[in-house]
Amino acid sequence: MIRSERHADIGSDHGHLLAALLAAGRIEFGFAIENKRQPFENSKATLNGYAAEVRFADGLAGLRPAEVDSLSICGMGGGSIVRILEAFPERVPDRLMLQPNKSINVVRRWARNNRFKLLDERCTQGGRRFEILSFQRTDQAEDPAYQQLQQRGCDSELGYEFGPWFLLRQDAELRRLLREELDYLKKMPALTDESRTRMEAISRLEAAGYFFSR
Ligand SMILES: C[S@@+](CC[C@H](N)C(=O)[O-])C[C@H]1O[C@@H](n2cnc3c(N)ncnc32)[C@H](O)[C@@H]1O
Repeated sequence: MIRSERHADIGSDHGHLLAALLAAGRIEFGFAIENKRQPFENSKATLNGYAAEVRFADGLAGLRPAEVDSLSICGMGGGSIVRILEAFPERVPDRLMLQPNKSINVVRRWARNNRFKLLDERCTQGGRRFEILSFQRTDQAEDPAYQQLQQRGCDSELGYEFGPWFLLRQDAELRRLLREELDYLKKMPALTDESRTRMEAISRLEAAGYFFSR
């Protein structure tokens, strides 16, 4: 998903994302931003000799406005990702690749409320399912992904929770996982509030009639 001239990776940790992007020629220059000492040192070691700068800073405090064309934030919770983006709105570039480990709905909602169009969403294969979202700043008030979803009978809340493109593409793996999750939750004698909310959301998808069509 990443192809740009100047790219920043916020929370670079080991530094391998930028190293891979530079080695593949997908970016020309990388900025690794870290706010913890050991990951900062690890990023410096990995990126030594690459066209990259490693900065010790808290999120976008480590970037100047318009310094990069795109940025990634991977491997954090959705709440942390949004906090980083909201701390310096004027430093957020037009292109974002975000990989929240949890609370993904918070990221999709933030993007829509801040006029970032959801270009695509993909997930890792095998093992744990990690979702990777790519966004582009837009002037349009409406995001076509959510408009199309609405035409298929699904409201935006379901889009934030499960991903409009995953739903529109009828992502087979997600469909299988949600079917399993729903069967499991239905068998539970008691549910926490969180599990009940989740079960209701999957049931609403089922009721929307197309997601579980066989
Ligand atoms: C779980 S690691 C993920 C590392 C890498 N992005 C990945 O996906 O493999 C999160 C990293 O983000 C860093 N981090 C968390 N909050 C940060 C912030 N506000 N500014 C810079 N780095 C941050 C942490 O120190 C840690 O190295």
